[in-house]
Amino acid sequence: MASVTFDKATRVYPGSDRPAVDALDLEIADGEFLVLVGPSGCGKSTSLRMLAGLEDVNAGRILIGDRDVTQVQPKDRDIAMVFQNYALYPHMTVADNMGFALKIAGTPKAEIETRVKEAAKILDLTEYLGRKPKALSGGQRQRVAMGRAIVRQPRVFLMDEPLSNLDAKLRVQTRTQIASLQRRLGVTTVYVTHDQTEALTMGDRIAVLNFGVLQQVGTPREMYDRPANVFVAGFIGSPAMNLGEFRVVGDEAVLGAARVPLSAAARKALQASGEDKVIVGFRPEATERVSENTPGALAVTVNLVEELGSDAFIYGSLEGEEEAAKVGSGEDEDQVIIRIDPRDVPDKGAKVHVTIRPDAQHEFSVSSGERLVD
Ligand SMILES: Nc1ncnc2c1ncn2[C@@H]1O[C@H](COP(=O)(O)OP(=O)(O)OP(=O)(O)O)[C@@H](O)[C@H]1O
Ligand SMILES: [Mg+2]
Repeated sequence: MASVTFDKATRVYPGSDRPAVDALDLEIADGEFLVLVGPSGCGKSTSLRMLAGLEDVNAGRILIGDRDVTQVQPKDRDIAMVFQNYALYPHMTVADNMGFALKIAGTPKAEIETRVKEAAKILDLTEYLGRKPKALSGGQRQRVAMGRAIVRQPRVFLMDEPLSNLDAKLRVQTRTQIASLQRRLGVTTVYVTHDQTEALTMGDRIAVLNFGVLQQVGTPREMYDRPANVFVAGFIGSPAMNLGEFRVVGDEAVLGAARVPLSAAARKALQASGEDKVIVGFRPEATERVSENTPGALAVTVNLVEELGSDAFIYGSLEGEEEAAKVGSGEDEDQVIIRIDPRDVPDKGAKVHVTIRPDAQHEFSVSSGERLVD
């Protein structure tokens, strides 16, 4: 097993003037499960492929343990990769599929058999070892693909959206299995997904990329509670955080009738930068329904109610000045999302009043998008 280090690793594809991955600095500890997440095209697969040796590194270095592998051939890096399209050999049994890489590497037959049996046991595939892939379910095939990686006993696992071929229910099941399997084996793992829920539920830590640039690295809790900038704030969390530009008036952020008390630290940061506007963020669950005449409350006209059984969410428009329409969430620029009691659901078109729970708001700089208070 080993740690992994991206040291200012950069990839510029031929013919492109912008790096697909721009000076990526990231250290992954021995045995850690790190999830790389971000929107389509942000450079996740490119980062993983640089680590695998399948993509040139144009600047910077990649280390596995203490060893600089930047120029090392993929086969000599001691890694195993699981892709989204894990093509299994259709004419081979599950056991042969799993042992194939070892066979090619000239591993003795008895050793292959032992390792395949071990992996099959871990993955609950023992009774399917003699079957062909076409006689397996999607989830079982996915586990065979994992098995192929496990039998190689690599120092690092690389996984690129391995679950995206599965249906929603199976995906949830399999992601739990992969996460607990990884913890049991203790093999350093870099896992790529565009799904922030997958990232939050699986990773020891999450690294968020946008336009090839690392935005923030941290535990799921850190990313959720203290997003470093507006992008991470809008990307991590479902439903997404509400974000809007407020005017700074005295000790408060003001938008129409809505007034949000600013923390002393935020006021200090705003004074230092001289900015008279601030981006206020609040999560759908950080609000409380209040009566209509509560001073400073946000008035929200209900456009849609999403009932999920245990929860209910209002999608609505913030009332007030023209500019209030600009308050939206990471999901929808024109609508705020408010979690409400599922047993007390308002009608479409009704007006609901909420306040943000004390200290549950986030403040970001209008000019840089960075979080104002650490
Ligand atoms: N072989 C290539 N040649 C040129 N440009 C490429 C190549 N592969 C990827 N790119 C570009 O590099 C950027 C990053 O691509 P990458 O595949 O790493 O994104 P990603 O984060 O994995 O996205 P997705 O979630 O859609 O898989 C994109 O703008 C993409 O168009
Ligand atoms: Mg990709």
